[in-house]
Amino acid sequence: MTVAARSGHIEARDLTVRFRRRDAAATTALSGFHLDVRPGEIVSVIGPNGCGKSTMLRVLAGLIAPSVGMALLDGQPIHGPDARVGLVFQEPRLLPWRTVARNIAYPVELAGLPEAERETRVKELLHRVGLADAADLRPGQLSGGMRQRAALARTLALQPEVLLLDEPFSALDAMTRERFNVELLKLWERLGTTIILVTHSIAEAIFLGDRVVVLSSRPGHVVADIRVEVPRPRTLDRLDEAAVSATAREIRAHLEANEP
Ligand SMILES: Nc1ncnc2c1ncn2[C@@H]1O[C@H](COP(=O)(O)OP(=O)(O)OP(=O)(O)O)[C@@H](O)[C@H]1O
Ligand SMILES: [Mg+2]
Repeated sequence: MTVAARSGHIEARDLTVRFRRRDAAATTALSGFHLDVRPGEIVSVIGPNGCGKSTMLRVLAGLIAPSVGMALLDGQPIHGPDARVGLVFQEPRLLPWRTVARNIAYPVELAGLPEAERETRVKELLHRVGLADAADLRPGQLSGGMRQRAALARTLALQPEVLLLDEPFSALDAMTRERFNVELLKLWERLGTTIILVTHSIAEAIFLGDRVVVLSSRPGHVVADIRVEVPRPRTLDRLDEAAVSATAREIRAHLEANEP
């Protein structure tokens, strides 16, 4: 009997992304960028502002093509958006005229899911991200953190195999952020999704990641790939352990060595 290989393997091979603008010099956002993320792995990505983190996620989501190199999903080149890969943008892009529930339902409507199944899924997601009471509000009536959670739920609605998260918890207060880190891990334990998480928080990077990848300043490339030796399942009190502070020191040293 052959067992089907798990899917959700993401690779970035020697990516360079150059943005050309008519009126200005070209910007090179990434150069010589490599990354290999195994199915079901969580990789945290940390690096200075403008080093190309969001650009890297856009390439992996098939939204922009690299100038050099290629991105692959399960060994196949990524040429465009794919329902198996879900991206939660740094600035939540919700449809302003739709309620929170309708926003979350939007991608599954487009995918043609039967209404009953759609409603069940939306309801479950509203609870999971703590927005059950806000289901009928419109994006303009939400706080920044609520918008981020709505955007996360909308991406989860399609049950992607790969979840690309661009600073998804940056607008949350410290306590809510920790709670959502725990929620995200619970979800991941259940679904086994591959997750690439961009964050500016060293603590969050360590708490969530199997590995923490540190990028250089622009053009971004990997300067360190650090394994997090904290066993799972992880709980918040683990953040006080010695292994965590040693890893944090290592990450900080790499970030400081790469300051422009
Ligand atoms: N569509 C675009 N056209 C031109 N330049 C772009 C475009 N998108 C990004 N850039 C440039 O590419 C570089 C990398 O941007 P990117 O948004 O990927 O950085 P980042 O690492 O996500 O930064 P931050 O931490 O602030 O979110 C920046 O100099 C940015 O101005
Ligand atoms: Mg960004």
